[in-house]
Amino acid sequence: MVVVEKVKEMQKIIDSHRSEGKRIVCVPTMGYFHKGHLSLMELAREYGEIVVTTLFVNPTQFGPNEDFERYPRNFQRDFELAQSVGIDYLFAPTIEEIYPDNFYTKVIVGKFTDKFEGVKRPGHFDGVATVVTKLFNATKPDVAIFGQKDFQQALVIKQLVKELLFDIKIIVAPIVREADGLAMSSRNVYLSEEERKLAPRIFEALNLGIKAVQNGERRRKQINSIVLQHLRQFREFFIDYVAAVDSETLDEPEEFSPGQTVVILVAVYLGKTRLIDNVLVTVP
Ligand code: PAJ
Repeated sequence: MVVVEKVKEMQKIIDSHRSEGKRIVCVPTMGYFHKGHLSLMELAREYGEIVVTTLFVNPTQFGPNEDFERYPRNFQRDFELAQSVGIDYLFAPTIEEIYPDNFYTKVIVGKFTDKFEGVKRPGHFDGVATVVTKLFNATKPDVAIFGQKDFQQALVIKQLVKELLFDIKIIVAPIVREADGLAMSSRNVYLSEEERKLAPRIFEALNLGIKAVQNGERRRKQINSIVLQHLRQFREFFIDYVAAVDSETLDEPEEFSPGQTVVILVAVYLGKTRLIDNVLVTVP
């Protein structure tokens, strides 16, 4: 595995592989790898001969009161993990490389960004769309892999690719969970022992939502309240939102229809740590 820090160098390497007819697959990340990230990297291998993982903690997608400064970082650990799954290139630019002083351009996606994460984290998706655009231009992939974990982000990226005519196929990979159901996240290291014990209740609540839908519940508010009720038993959770929505449009009808795939989105604070999770369920 080769570590690349400069955009120009990355582009040159990719150009030479492309001229050999190789397909390039990109896995954008902010590092502090867990099995979720590694599963994306392994999946990437199925889509092309050259796999590039990008590692960049993107300051522009963090709000002023968010955790950019304390976001977990460990380059040596990430290097070894990426190498262990057979990544070809680890693109790890500095902040200056991605955002030099004279940087005046922002990418704003106007769809899927006016709800949930977009409202709770103002400017977050502008930062994501801008950095992903830059990472795509640096790594020029044929395919890019994102996780369902950040459900809304994946929709935003697909919209970005479609509207800005990026010739890139976007793959969304399933959520990798701990044995007790907690969705893997770099932020899980923030949890205290007590909080960590409580965290699997989120997936437990989502599963109650799935069950309700599978048992015939189609009323959106009813599905939401089943999930909410479970979470509210535990005073330690501060609930940011719980929302059963159409998985393609994020629309919120009064009632879902048979055959419709619903995503139940959750964001909660557990102490100071903000956790997000979601599940998909198709209405019978
Ligand atoms: P990061 O949070 O590091 O996540 C990188 C990718 O891993 C995302 O596509 C995310 O959805 C996926 N991922 C995270 N946890 C996962 C899990 N438990 N199972 C499967 N996939 C998981 O998302 C970002 O970084 C940034 O916003 C980025 C797109 C890199 C732009 O800065």
